[in-house]
Amino acid sequence: MKKIAVFTSGGDAPGMNACIRAIVRGAAYHGVEVYGIVRGYNGMIKGDIIPLNSQSVSNIIQRGGTILKSARSKEFMTAEGRKKAYDKLQELGIEGLVAIGGNGTFTGAEIFYNEYKIPTVGAPGTIDNDLYGTDYTIGFDTAVNTALDAVDKIRDTADSHDRVFFIEVMGRDSGYIAIQCAIAGGAESVMIPENLTSVDEIAAILQKGFDKKKSSSIVIVAEGDEEGNAQIVAKNIKDKMDENLDIRVTTLGHIQRGGIPTAYDRILASRLGLGALEGLLRGEKNVMAGVVNNQLIYTPFHDTITKKKPVSEDLIRMVEILSS
Ligand code: F6P
Repeated sequence: MKKIAVFTSGGDAPGMNACIRAIVRGAAYHGVEVYGIVRGYNGMIKGDIIPLNSQSVSNIIQRGGTILKSARSKEFMTAEGRKKAYDKLQELGIEGLVAIGGNGTFTGAEIFYNEYKIPTVGAPGTIDNDLYGTDYTIGFDTAVNTALDAVDKIRDTADSHDRVFFIEVMGRDSGYIAIQCAIAGGAESVMIPENLTSVDEIAAILQKGFDKKKSSSIVIVAEGDEEGNAQIVAKNIKDKMDENLDIRVTTLGHIQRGGIPTAYDRILASRLGLGALEGLLRGEKNVMAGVVNNQLIYTPFHDTITKKKPVSEDLIRMVEILSS
């Protein structure tokens, strides 16, 4: 393989730039020409594809976001869109792809591979950490640290005012960010889609705290929780407990997607980027590179998309025990 392209797609994640850098520098090392596709699948359809070299990725390892920009492409979900994308790749003679992204990215990559057989290897880039086939995804560690910094700050003011805070974190259908923030932030409770905690149970946990003279509490709510978003949960708690309870809600939102990647994310991104590239050059296709138990492995896109990666029961138990 002599000519490949790399792109980032879906929600951006801190560390994507470190991953692009590893792919581009790895390609240079192996004597492979490398292109960058701008704005994911949309750029592939439009032919917005630029040559990259070692210098193009200087001074980006520490930057959040993605220099290749990102998008969620509706057009690529159509057969016509994918045909246009294939034609653009053919025009440039691109023989293989490295896709950095999450669930949606790999769903598109699998369909595209099945139709056009262009070998594609993925690198897991999403703050949600919801991909089967890797213990951690690029950007997750930074997102947790960003959210945790906010939780720590909110705890100061919660304590000064004797308030209960419901803090909503991202994660789509996954509770990974929430559970890690809850443990590291010493939250009183956590609500995640993987383990249903009813509003009644949360009320009981808060009451137990008040009985022990706790004057403030933090509850972390994953955005995908089945009881609803943090606003809804907070309202339901107020209705159940005491209307004078001083409750506030903070939704952290997209702050969790930005910022300087942690050392962990830079190293993981570099390892997965190089791993994806070298896998592709060795003949891997239709798979995602991941790190499981500190080993680089490749998992079929189909499994990464369809199989569940459960939040460990241990962690859930830990929040309950340590907050009491
Ligand atoms: O997948 C990353 C993520 O940040 C999710 O946690 C969140 O649900 C979603 O993307 C938000 O998407 P958008 O940036 O399109 O609003």
